[in-house]
Amino acid sequence: MQRRNFIKDSGLCLAGLTILQDLHNLTKIDDHRKEGVVIATWNNQKAVEAAWKVLQENGSALNAVEEGARVPEADEKDTSVGYGGYPDREGIVTLDASIMDHEGNAGSVFFLQGIKHPISVARLVMEKTPHVYLAGEGARLFAIENGFKEENLLSEGSNKEYQEWKKKNNYSPVIGPKVHDTIGILAIDKETRLSGACSTSGLAFKMHGRVGDSPIIGSGLYVDNMIGAASATGLGEAVIKKVGSFSIVEMMRTGHSPKKACKKAIERLLDIKGPKDFQVGYIALSKEGEVGAYSLQPNFPYVVIREGKFELKYANSYF
Ligand code: GLY
Repeated sequence: MQRRNFIKDSGLCLAGLTILQDLHNLTKIDDHRKEGVVIATWNNQKAVEAAWKVLQENGSALNAVEEGARVPEADEKDTSVGYGGYPDREGIVTLDASIMDHEGNAGSVFFLQGIKHPISVARLVMEKTPHVYLAGEGARLFAIENGFKEENLLSEGSNKEYQEWKKKNNYSPVIGPKVHDTIGILAIDKETRLSGACSTSGLAFKMHGRVGDSPIIGSGLYVDNMIGAASATGLGEAVIKKVGSFSIVEMMRTGHSPKKACKKAIERLLDIKGPKDFQVGYIALSKEGEVGAYSLQPNFPYVVIREGKFELKYANSYF
């Protein structure tokens, strides 16, 4: 009996704590959140502007991050995302993407070929299937069944670079700040719903079949509507080993600011071999609308829009 009462009381306590946490979050609503906030990796100005437009038209954070990620996916000049992305070592463009909404729903596609907007396929996986991950041929067929057009994603420019690479064939899975710009994009809307999206063509000239962190929930992207959201860019293998985005949100849960949580997550990479030779950048957004970022190497830009003001910032870095 006593044990039962104890369990009942603990349950009530937990429910009480949850309500208190909710109240705490609600009372911390600040000006940023009246209009929403958007943050994205690298200089993805057009992406955050597209997301911001959705928020200003009273759209959801989910619609905003999807719209935002679609911008570099369609941009031929962006050689790390979607159409125009560098191919793998066989000359095939393979795409990874993930999306999460404010209810903790998640969808991802891995190793998707011939479909320009993997982020929208990931959203359909989330909304139309009982699953979280669809990979390769299954993901492609699912996209086609749902009306996506098949296209050649290898642009003339990326093919030219690939032909040059093939001459030397020096496969080296190292990401420098210049050669990689996966988009991670996070938003909070006027109703304080958080969502995030992450999309990439992965490492340039990677092994056929290689998948990075971007489609892996908790690594390339994580959203907890009570706490905040985080996303990653850079060497996926390093991010996966440390479950980067999830760890940032968990550190925010313990009270760290988005920037401090990103910094601590970067410091966790240091025991990976050769931390001077690769780049990882993290961005984060709290439920209160506070943003932060941190990177391993210098020169990691990120972009933010709040209160209608666009800012291009450079993250502090460990090295
Ligand atoms: N961060 C993207 C990738 O490693 O594929």
